[in-house]
Amino acid sequence: MERFVIQGRVPLKGKLRIPGAKNSALPLMCASILAEGKTRLLNVPHLMDVVTMQQVLEGLGIKVVRKDTTLEIDSTNLSGFEAPYELVKKMRASILVLGPLLARYGKAEICLPGGCCIGRRPVNLHLEGLRKLGARIKVKRGYIEAYTKGFKGSPIHLDLPSVGATENLMLSACLSEGETVIKNASRAPEVVDLARFLRKMGAEIQGEGTSTIRIGGVKKLRSTHHSIIPDRIAAGTLLMAIVISRGEAVLEGTRPDHLGIVFTKLREMGAEIEVNSDKVRIKGGDYLRSVRIKTLPYPGFPTDLQPQITSLACLARGTSVITETIFENRFTHTPELQKMGAKIKQEGARVVVEEMPSLFGNLVRASDIRGGAALVLAGLAAQGTTIIEEIHHIDRGYEELEGNLSQLGAKMVRIKE
Ligand code: UD1
Repeated sequence: MERFVIQGRVPLKGKLRIPGAKNSALPLMCASILAEGKTRLLNVPHLMDVVTMQQVLEGLGIKVVRKDTTLEIDSTNLSGFEAPYELVKKMRASILVLGPLLARYGKAEICLPGGCCIGRRPVNLHLEGLRKLGARIKVKRGYIEAYTKGFKGSPIHLDLPSVGATENLMLSACLSEGETVIKNASRAPEVVDLARFLRKMGAEIQGEGTSTIRIGGVKKLRSTHHSIIPDRIAAGTLLMAIVISRGEAVLEGTRPDHLGIVFTKLREMGAEIEVNSDKVRIKGGDYLRSVRIKTLPYPGFPTDLQPQITSLACLARGTSVITETIFENRFTHTPELQKMGAKIKQEGARVVVEEMPSLFGNLVRASDIRGGAALVLAGLAAQGTTIIEEIHHIDRGYEELEGNLSQLGAKMVRIKE
């Protein structure tokens, strides 16, 4: 068992480089299934979720070799069509192998991802879309069994702009016959990165970054190489860490155009932000101002930064209101923040946070990636020592968090027991 131990109240200073995006790396790894030969992905972060996806691919007979931040994926020969329970349970994004397996091989068997601690997270939109493209799908004893004699392009209107469903359907439609038009598609940068990668593979895709994505089916795709976009959620988390510590630091290798609403909200709270090409300099103010946040699909405020900004709100002057509209239960960090002295109350899908002059170190427990990151941020600002348990959740989404924060001067260590 590992824990983070943080001595709070050290202003962060210096500079850091942002790694590649987890949520872009995972679908691109799945896209490699679509073509024979070697795919090279550059700027791939070192994270547990990437390791899990590597295991999913290896389970299908695909060879994956990591060299530093490059993954070489050879999908020439597949020996299986099944993503098993143990891996899908660890990481729901494993569902993204469903579309590519069907598109290239006509069959797939995948454990049905259940709910997780942040919500129910159904996959109905993935399955309905795949059925429209011509997949026969049965859900039996917790497994999705799917096959197709070949996908045929179709109009698909998503009820919600789901990131994963948009990606699964793009992955499927590019090897279909005819045109697919996905309406109410996700506009997220990770979807755009996937479209660019698929185009390099020979796919015909237009409209990524808007709500309507058109995909003209082709017969074959070729393997290629691609550098993953910087992680906007890791960048947002680190910006908030600097602000909550009242520090001043520079993040390099970012995509400021992916962080618009995050900059807006941090400026509203009193942070000073300067952008110079891929560099962002941020300075925490002497005090924080309260904020109103509502999570929304991109380009709205990301649900993946909601817990972290809640930690900032705990120390802000005035009353903050933070509303979660994407997941039903993304407030598991709230009782832990209360243990640290936060005046925070959950009212249905929102939390109301009252001003507190300080947080206090305590023993707390992470229960999901971003909720865990929120506790790290609270620990950086708290008086005394914060100990965070169950940090394997945080490791799923953050590369070397304690190393990066220590590089900025934080007193944070990982203790192995
Ligand atoms: C992705 C991100 C995750 C982020 C989320 C929302 C990856 C690997 N993960 O997850 O970090 O928090 O986007 O930005 O990229 N929904 C349905 N039916 C479906 C699919 C989704 O009802 O078939 C609902 C979900 O329960 C949720 C909402 O749609 O309430 C958004 O989910 P979605 O955008 O699909 O999230 P993921 O792709 O799972």
